[in-house]
Amino acid sequence: MELASKDSPVRLGILLSGRGSNFRAIAESIRAGRLKGVEIAVVISNVVDAPGIEKARELGLPVKVFVSAGLKRRHHDFNVAACLALHEVDLVCLAGYMRLLSPEFVAAFPNRILNIHPSLLPAFPGLDAQQQAFEYGVKMAGCTVHFVDEHLDHGVIVLQRAIPVHETDDARSLAKRILAEEHVVYSEAIARVASGEYEIRGRRFVKRDS
Ligand code: GAR
Repeated sequence: MELASKDSPVRLGILLSGRGSNFRAIAESIRAGRLKGVEIAVVISNVVDAPGIEKARELGLPVKVFVSAGLKRRHHDFNVAACLALHEVDLVCLAGYMRLLSPEFVAAFPNRILNIHPSLLPAFPGLDAQQQAFEYGVKMAGCTVHFVDEHLDHGVIVLQRAIPVHETDDARSLAKRILAEEHVVYSEAIARVASGEYEIRGRRFVKRDS
Protein backbone atom coordinates (compact mmCIF):
# COMPACT_ATOMS: atom_id res chain seq x y z
CA MET A 1 0.00 0.00 0.00
CA GLU A 2 1.31 3.42 -0.98
CA LEU A 3 0.47 6.28 1.38
CA ALA A 4 2.46 9.13 -0.12
CA SER A 5 4.62 9.77 -3.14
CA LYS A 6 8.07 8.21 -2.83
CA ASP A 7 9.96 11.41 -2.08
CA SER A 8 7.62 13.00 0.44
CA PRO A 9 7.15 11.90 4.06
CA VAL A 10 3.94 10.17 5.10
CA ARG A 11 1.91 12.76 6.99
CA LEU A 12 0.36 11.57 10.26
CA GLY A 13 -2.77 12.95 11.86
CA ILE A 14 -2.83 12.03 15.56
CA LEU A 15 -6.18 11.86 17.37
CA LEU A 16 -6.15 11.73 21.16
CA SER A 17 -8.40 12.35 24.14
CA GLY A 18 -6.14 12.27 27.19
CA ARG A 19 -2.67 11.64 28.52
CA GLY A 20 -1.15 11.20 25.07
CA SER A 21 1.78 8.99 26.07
CA ASN A 22 1.52 7.03 22.82
CA PHE A 23 1.56 10.27 20.85
CA ARG A 24 4.64 11.39 22.79
CA ALA A 25 6.36 8.08 22.07
CA ILE A 26 5.64 8.46 18.34
CA ALA A 27 6.89 12.06 18.34
CA GLU A 28 10.06 10.97 20.17
CA SER A 29 10.66 8.08 17.72
CA ILE A 30 10.48 10.56 14.85
CA ARG A 31 12.74 13.07 16.63
CA ALA A 32 15.31 10.39 17.45
CA GLY A 33 15.34 9.14 13.86
CA ARG A 34 13.99 5.69 14.74
CA LEU A 35 10.80 6.32 12.79
CA LYS A 36 11.82 7.61 9.39
CA GLY A 37 9.85 8.83 6.40
CA VAL A 38 6.93 10.19 8.43
CA GLU A 39 6.02 13.52 9.98
CA ILE A 40 3.23 14.67 12.28
CA ALA A 41 0.98 16.98 10.28
CA VAL A 42 -1.57 17.74 13.01
CA VAL A 43 -2.65 16.62 16.48
CA ILE A 44 -6.38 16.69 17.13
CA SER A 45 -8.23 16.26 20.41
CA ASN A 46 -11.88 16.14 21.38
CA VAL A 47 -10.94 17.21 24.93
CA VAL A 48 -9.93 20.84 25.46
CA ASP A 49 -7.40 20.29 28.25
CA ALA A 50 -6.07 16.86 27.27
CA PRO A 51 -2.45 16.66 28.51
CA GLY A 52 -1.49 15.20 25.12
CA ILE A 53 -2.61 18.35 23.35
CA GLU A 54 -0.56 20.50 25.74
CA LYS A 55 2.49 18.43 24.89
CA ALA A 56 1.79 18.83 21.17
CA ARG A 57 1.69 22.60 21.65
CA GLU A 58 5.00 22.47 23.51
CA LEU A 59 6.50 20.58 20.60
CA GLY A 60 5.27 23.29 18.24
CA LEU A 61 3.03 20.97 16.28
CA PRO A 62 -0.20 22.12 14.62
CA VAL A 63 -2.98 21.44 17.14
CA LYS A 64 -6.74 21.52 16.81
CA VAL A 65 -9.46 20.82 19.38
CA PHE A 66 -12.95 19.78 18.31
CA VAL A 67 -15.28 19.53 21.27
CA SER A 68 -17.76 16.80 20.57
CA ALA A 69 -20.39 17.64 23.21
CA GLY A 70 -23.75 18.57 21.70
CA LEU A 71 -22.81 17.53 18.18
CA LYS A 72 -24.04 14.46 16.32
CA ARG A 73 -21.20 11.97 15.83
CA ARG A 74 -21.44 12.39 12.07
CA HIS A 75 -21.08 16.18 12.29
CA HIS A 76 -18.20 16.05 14.71
CA ASP A 77 -16.38 13.50 12.57
CA PHE A 78 -17.02 15.60 9.47
CA ASN A 79 -15.19 18.52 11.10
CA VAL A 80 -12.29 16.28 12.12
CA ALA A 81 -12.07 14.73 8.63
CA ALA A 82 -12.05 18.19 7.05
CA CYS A 83 -9.19 19.23 9.34
CA LEU A 84 -7.22 16.10 8.45
CA ALA A 85 -7.76 16.80 4.75
CA LEU A 86 -6.68 20.43 5.20
CA HIS A 87 -3.42 19.21 6.74
CA GLU A 88 -2.98 16.70 3.91
CA VAL A 89 -2.89 13.75 6.29
CA ASP A 90 -2.04 10.37 4.74
CA LEU A 91 -2.40 8.19 7.83
CA VAL A 92 -4.62 8.77 10.86
CA CYS A 93 -3.28 7.40 14.16
CA LEU A 94 -5.70 7.01 17.05
CA ALA A 95 -3.66 7.36 20.24
CA GLY A 96 -6.04 7.00 23.16
CA TYR A 97 -8.88 8.58 21.17
CA MET A 98 -11.82 7.49 23.28
CA ARG A 99 -14.58 7.95 20.72
CA LEU A 100 -16.26 5.63 18.29
CA LEU A 101 -15.83 6.79 14.71
CA SER A 102 -18.79 7.22 12.39
CA PRO A 103 -19.01 4.86 9.38
CA GLU A 104 -18.60 7.94 7.15
CA PHE A 105 -15.28 8.80 8.80
CA VAL A 106 -13.97 5.25 8.49
CA ALA A 107 -15.04 5.14 4.83
CA ALA A 108 -13.23 8.42 4.16
CA PHE A 109 -9.90 6.83 5.19
CA PRO A 110 -9.99 3.21 3.99
CA ASN A 111 -7.08 1.32 5.57
CA ARG A 112 -5.67 4.71 6.51
CA ILE A 113 -6.61 4.71 10.22
CA LEU A 114 -4.53 2.92 12.83
CA ASN A 115 -5.50 2.27 16.44
CA ILE A 116 -3.59 0.91 19.40
CA HIS A 117 -5.44 -1.30 21.83
CA PRO A 118 -4.05 -2.66 25.11
CA SER A 119 -4.90 -6.33 24.57
CA LEU A 120 -4.08 -9.14 22.21
CA LEU A 121 -7.09 -8.74 19.94
CA PRO A 122 -9.51 -10.31 19.25
CA ALA A 123 -9.44 -10.92 23.02
CA PHE A 124 -10.78 -8.15 25.26
CA PRO A 125 -12.05 -5.45 22.90
CA GLY A 126 -13.67 -2.35 24.37
CA LEU A 127 -12.94 -0.44 27.53
CA ASP A 128 -10.54 -1.42 30.34
CA ALA A 129 -8.94 -4.16 28.27
CA GLN A 130 -6.05 -4.65 30.70
CA GLN A 131 -8.45 -5.10 33.62
CA GLN A 132 -10.54 -7.50 31.55
CA ALA A 133 -7.45 -9.57 30.71
CA PHE A 134 -6.22 -9.55 34.31
CA GLU A 135 -9.58 -10.65 35.71
CA TYR A 136 -9.93 -13.36 33.07
CA GLY A 137 -6.66 -14.81 34.33
CA VAL A 138 -4.72 -14.87 31.09
CA LYS A 139 -1.05 -15.79 31.35
CA MET A 140 -0.06 -13.70 28.35
CA ALA A 141 -1.30 -10.16 27.74
CA GLY A 142 -0.16 -7.48 25.33
CA CYS A 143 -1.17 -4.86 22.82
CA THR A 144 -2.29 -4.64 19.21
CA VAL A 145 -1.94 -2.05 16.48
CA HIS A 146 -4.66 -2.54 13.89
CA PHE A 147 -6.41 -0.79 11.05
CA VAL A 148 -9.76 0.63 12.00
CA ASP A 149 -12.84 -0.68 10.26
CA GLU A 150 -16.52 -0.15 11.01
CA HIS A 151 -16.51 -2.60 13.93
CA LEU A 152 -15.06 -2.00 17.38
CA ASP A 153 -11.40 -3.04 17.77
CA HIS A 154 -11.78 -5.35 14.80
CA GLY A 155 -9.75 -4.29 11.72
CA VAL A 156 -6.73 -5.97 10.17
CA ILE A 157 -3.87 -6.47 12.64
CA VAL A 158 -0.58 -4.76 11.79
CA LEU A 159 1.51 -5.74 14.81
CA GLN A 160 1.11 -7.29 18.25
CA ARG A 161 3.40 -7.59 21.23
CA ALA A 162 2.84 -10.15 23.99
CA ILE A 163 4.09 -10.04 27.57
CA PRO A 164 3.72 -12.57 30.39
CA VAL A 165 1.39 -11.86 33.29
CA HIS A 166 3.31 -12.28 36.54
CA GLU A 167 1.84 -13.87 39.68
CA THR A 168 2.69 -10.63 41.46
CA ASP A 169 0.84 -8.43 38.95
CA ASP A 170 -2.32 -6.51 39.63
CA ALA A 171 -4.31 -4.85 36.86
CA ARG A 172 -2.37 -1.63 37.37
CA SER A 173 1.11 -3.09 37.11
CA LEU A 174 0.02 -5.14 34.11
CA ALA A 175 -1.37 -2.04 32.38
CA LYS A 176 1.90 -0.22 33.05
CA ARG A 177 3.98 -2.97 31.45
CA ILE A 178 1.62 -3.20 28.49
CA LEU A 179 1.87 0.57 28.01
CA ALA A 180 5.67 0.35 27.83
CA GLU A 181 5.25 -2.13 24.95
CA GLU A 182 2.66 0.12 23.30
CA HIS A 183 5.20 2.92 23.18
CA VAL A 184 7.55 0.76 21.14
CA VAL A 185 5.13 -1.16 18.98
CA TYR A 186 3.08 1.78 17.68
CA SER A 187 6.09 3.38 15.99
CA GLU A 188 7.13 0.03 14.55
CA ALA A 189 3.65 -0.49 13.14
CA ILE A 190 3.58 3.01 11.63
CA ALA A 191 6.97 2.34 10.04
CA ARG A 192 5.64 -0.83 8.42
CA VAL A 193 2.50 0.84 7.11
CA ALA A 194 4.43 3.88 5.87
CA SER A 195 7.12 1.77 4.20
CA GLY A 196 4.81 0.75 1.37
CA GLU A 197 6.36 -2.71 1.60
CA TYR A 198 3.30 -4.39 3.05
CA GLU A 199 -0.13 -5.29 1.73
CA ILE A 200 -3.39 -6.62 3.09
CA ARG A 201 -4.36 -10.12 2.00
CA GLY A 202 -7.69 -11.10 3.44
CA ARG A 203 -7.21 -10.23 7.10
CA ARG A 204 -3.43 -10.62 6.95
CA PHE A 205 -1.01 -7.70 6.83
CA VAL A 206 2.02 -9.18 5.10
CA LYS A 207 5.19 -8.16 3.34
CA ARG A 208 4.71 -7.90 -0.41
CA ASP A 209 5.86 -10.91 -2.41
CA SER A 210 6.12 -13.03 0.71
C1 GAR B 1 -3.54 3.32 25.82
O1 GAR B 1 -3.31 2.28 26.73
C2 GAR B 1 -4.29 2.80 24.60
O2 GAR B 1 -3.91 1.51 24.24
C3 GAR B 1 -5.71 2.83 25.09
O3 GAR B 1 -5.81 4.03 25.81
C4 GAR B 1 -4.53 4.34 26.38
C5 GAR B 1 -4.18 5.75 25.99
O4 GAR B 1 -3.02 6.15 26.63
N1 GAR B 1 -6.65 2.77 24.01
C6 GAR B 1 -7.76 2.06 24.05
O5 GAR B 1 -8.12 1.42 25.01
C7 GAR B 1 -8.58 2.13 22.77
N2 GAR B 1 -9.56 1.10 22.75
P1 GAR B 1 -2.21 7.42 26.15
O6 GAR B 1 -3.22 8.57 26.06
O7 GAR B 1 -1.21 7.66 27.23
O8 GAR B 1 -1.59 7.10 24.82
